[in-house]
Amino acid sequence: MTAKIIDGKKIADKILSELKSKIKNSKQKPGLALVLVGNNPASEIYVNFKEKTCKEVGFYCERFNLDKNISELDLLKLINDLNQKPNLHGILVQLPLPKHINEHLITNSILPHKDVDGFTSLSLGNLMSENAILAPATARAVLHLIESAGTGIEGKNAVVIGRSNIVGKPVAMMLLEKNATVTICHSRTKNPAEHTRKADILVVAVGKPRLIKKDMVKEGAVVIDVGINRADGKIVGDVDFENVKEVAGFITPVPGGVGPMTIAMLMQNTLTAMELAKRI
Ligand code: GUN
Repeated sequence: MTAKIIDGKKIADKILSELKSKIKNSKQKPGLALVLVGNNPASEIYVNFKEKTCKEVGFYCERFNLDKNISELDLLKLINDLNQKPNLHGILVQLPLPKHINEHLITNSILPHKDVDGFTSLSLGNLMSENAILAPATARAVLHLIESAGTGIEGKNAVVIGRSNIVGKPVAMMLLEKNATVTICHSRTKNPAEHTRKADILVVAVGKPRLIKKDMVKEGAVVIDVGINRADGKIVGDVDFENVKEVAGFITPVPGGVGPMTIAMLMQNTLTAMELAKRI
C-alpha cells in the first residue's frame, strides 16, 4: 500500500481564501497581536508566518518583538494593554518563553475571549468539558486533517504520541470527544510500538526526527505528523515519511501538513474572537 498524502497546504489555502472573501467587504477586520519574546530562531519563523498570513488574508496585525530580558511584570503590563484594545481581538504570546518568565501566568493573563491559542486554563477546561469556543490551533488542525481522510474517528483506536499541554493533551481530548478510543504515549511509555501498531489513527507530536518507523505503523492507518525538526540539513517530521508511507493509508508531509493548517486554524480562531467581542 502507498499512502495518500494529506495536502495540508492545499486544505489550508482553501480555508484562508474563504476567510479572505468573508472579511473582504466587512467594515471590521479581525485583529491579532503577536508577541515574541527573545530571539528563538524557530519562534521567529513561526511568528513571521503568522504575521505574513494575517496580511495576506486582510487581518489587522500588530507585532511586538520584546527583549529576552524583559521582566515578567513588563510583559504582564503589555498584555493588560492589549487586553483593553478593541481593534485587537486575539492575543498570541509565542511559546516557549525565557526561563525567568512563568508561562502559565502569562498565558492566563490573556482575556479568555482573546485567547486565540486556546491555552488559558479556562479554554483548556472548556475543551475538557466539551464546550470549547477557542480550541488550540494545532489540535484543531490535526482533527481537521484526520477528518479530511474520510475514514472516520468514532470507534477507532487513536494513539497520540506526546503529552504536551499545547498539542498532545488537547488532541487526545478532541479525539475522545469524537468517540475514538484514545491512548496517550510519552517518554516513559514502556513499549510504544505495542500501542502504535494498533492505531487506526496515529498522531505524533514529540519533536524527534523520524522517530516513527514503518514497523511501528498499522497497515492503512491515518498518520498525522506534528513534528518539525531539522535533520541532515532539511526539515523533517517525527515520522520516517519515506518508509511509513508504504504502509499507512493516509499521511501528512512535513513541511506542508500540520504547519500550514495550524496557521489557518489560528486565523479562524481570530475571526471567532472578533465575533465573541461583539457579544461582550
Ligand atoms: N509554540 C509552539 N506552538 C505554538 C502555538 O501554537 N502557539 C504559541 N503561542 N506558541 C507555540
